[in-house]
Amino acid sequence: MRVLIGGGSGFVGRELTQLLRRKGHEVTIISRQPGPGRITWADLECGGLPPCEGAVNLAGEILLNPFRRWNESYKKELFSSRIDTTRSLVQAIASSSSPPKSWVLVTGVACYKPSRTAEYSEESEWTPYDFLSKLVKEWEGTGRLPENVAQNTRQVIIRAGVVLGRNGGAMKQMLTPFWLGLGGTLGSGQQPFPWIHVADLAGIIARSLEPSPDPTISAPEIYNGVAPAHNTNYEFTKALGQALQRPTLFPVPGIVIRALLGAERAVVLTEGQWVTPKKTLETGYKFQYPDLGSALQEIVGS
Ligand SMILES: NC(=O)c1ccc[n+]([C@@H]2O[C@H](COP(=O)([O-])OP(=O)(O)OC[C@H]3O[C@@H](n4cnc5c(N)ncnc54)[C@H](OP(=O)(O)O)[C@@H]3O)[C@@H](O)[C@H]2O)c1
Repeated sequence: MRVLIGGGSGFVGRELTQLLRRKGHEVTIISRQPGPGRITWADLECGGLPPCEGAVNLAGEILLNPFRRWNESYKKELFSSRIDTTRSLVQAIASSSSPPKSWVLVTGVACYKPSRTAEYSEESEWTPYDFLSKLVKEWEGTGRLPENVAQNTRQVIIRAGVVLGRNGGAMKQMLTPFWLGLGGTLGSGQQPFPWIHVADLAGIIARSLEPSPDPTISAPEIYNGVAPAHNTNYEFTKALGQALQRPTLFPVPGIVIRALLGAERAVVLTEGQWVTPKKTLETGYKFQYPDLGSALQEIVGS
């Protein structure tokens, strides 16, 4: 299969590319930078969709860049880097004479309102309530293929939790303080921490590129990209400290996080959602890293 991956140069994209190539598939990345095995977004817009049987979008400006505040211009970039790239891919798919068999968009569990009690599956109703959930609503709406194309192209949306892996994402920012013994819980530590190992997210995306188990479905299939284990931030902190054999004695109070990041962004760290991968499990997907112990062992074990 030939697979086109928007934002495939990033943390998740590199894992997915390796997995697909190991399975014998060909990968082309859409990037802002030209290079071998790549096309640019401008190439896509001018030249149309290159021949491919699967398309994925992973493009997006990093959400928790510690060096940038969530001001209006940064929020615009967070928004447009996701919405505009998704729109470009949808338009290219819709106007292709030979559209791919599958189209996969990775969004996030931030659509579900943080709560210590509610448990969300893919079937849960949700209403946008803040910047991130509004972003997810528009992102997923933009990702929808026109009805005539959706008849022949499988549409999948994967709502990812915090993606854990040794080569990027949140772990990259956390490892140094934890190695130095400066790690600790964030806020109360009791907030849910929905997470997934990057190998499992790549595995779920790769599975979604295969023909649908029910080809009569033309609406997007939604899957939660989170591990089946439910953990709090406290449990994650303790497990990471244990895996690194380092103490985790320095909790960061919510008030400090809010002062450093601003109240709106602080919520991403001090609040969370209990998210269950109900439909993902129903497809028969077997998680390689279903619990924190096995995931962290793989990430920091060696
Ligand atoms: N990592 C997580 O914990 C997590 C959790 C939930 C959802 N997600 C979503 O999953 C997707 C992939 O995540 P990731 O961790 O792999 O992200 P990443 O490493 O930050 O990479 C995403 C790619 O997006 C492209 N990109 C960045 N800024 C862009 C911009 N302004 N305009 C167009 N393209 C831009 C970059 O490719 P080029 O430089 O080659 O253009 C980059 O390699 C993202 O949409 C993210 O929101 C991630």
